[in-house]
Amino acid sequence: MKDLNNKVAVITGAGSGIGRGTSLRLAEVGMDIAIADVDINGAQQTAEMVRALGRKAVVVKTDVSNREEVQHLASVVVQELGVPTVLFNNAGVVTFKDIALLTEGDWSWVMGVNLDGVINGVISFLPLMIESGQGGHIVNTASHCGLFPSRGLSSYSASKYAVVGLSEHLRGDLADSEIGVSVLCPGAVATGIVHAERNRPEIHGGPQIEPTDSKDKIGSSSYRNSDQVVSEGIDPKLVGEMVLQGILNNEPYIVTSLESKAPVEARLKAIRAAYEKPLIAQ
Ligand SMILES: NC(=O)c1ccc[n+]([C@@H]2O[C@H](COP(=O)([O-])OP(=O)(O)OC[C@H]3O[C@@H](n4cnc5c(N)ncnc54)[C@H](O)[C@@H]3O)[C@@H](O)[C@H]2O)c1
Repeated sequence: MKDLNNKVAVITGAGSGIGRGTSLRLAEVGMDIAIADVDINGAQQTAEMVRALGRKAVVVKTDVSNREEVQHLASVVVQELGVPTVLFNNAGVVTFKDIALLTEGDWSWVMGVNLDGVINGVISFLPLMIESGQGGHIVNTASHCGLFPSRGLSSYSASKYAVVGLSEHLRGDLADSEIGVSVLCPGAVATGIVHAERNRPEIHGGPQIEPTDSKDKIGSSSYRNSDQVVSEGIDPKLVGEMVLQGILNNEPYIVTSLESKAPVEARLKAIRAAYEKPLIAQ
């Protein structure tokens, strides 16, 4: 997608972090932005920043894990701004736990926001984008945790591997259309992601102080390590520029730093090794 001027972008999780950084970068190149988030205050602040850049901004309080709310988002966006050219399914949450201690609420919350959120975005916006005939681009936020296993992050990684797979399939299925697809796999970015529990709804167990169970050595060390690594991560505005370039060049994968290259290569090596062993005769 080369021409974004005067077009519309829908960005979930745009009330802070990468979603806000990307909202501002896309507004700078002339896009109007629909800002969807559960955090209405953060979303309003992003909207003011977009308007200060001279573009329109619409805020819709949306829980991306809820299909009806995402469909409502789609109808408001079409009515107020028009059919979007860019769909950025970016909202995400994380919990840090030993896999044996993960509760039903942990799984439903993490998979609901990170995976169902992307599915709900695709179901609600892709038919509109195809029907409009104007072309476009979908970016789904996974993580480098969607490319190799990370201890203490099993539910998060499972959701992000699924987003990578979904995005690869979406890109293949849309290859003959004018709609491109990228999957964003960031390394550490200095945002509020480690404190995602701040927005956990009661139906999924409510906000939990990280990690409270003294038996949970894996979760605690993953939390402490991530807290430090993420706080030293890159500026989310820089990720906004990377997302813009990914859209303009229809890049399949957008990575943000080199820290994940070695673990990704180690995983690929292990998969290759499985093919090099003699197969059991069939
Ligand atoms: N920051 C990093 O180091 C990093 C690394 C890899 C991947 N990511 C991914 O980047 C994406 C953006 O996260 P971020 O780092 O900007 O963190 P962030 O916490 O600053 O932003 C996430 C936003 O999503 C919103 N959100 C949470 N639950 C929601 C829901 N149910 N519906 C709608 N919005 C919801 C939050 O209110 C918040 O504004 C996430 O998908 C995250 O998994 C981040």
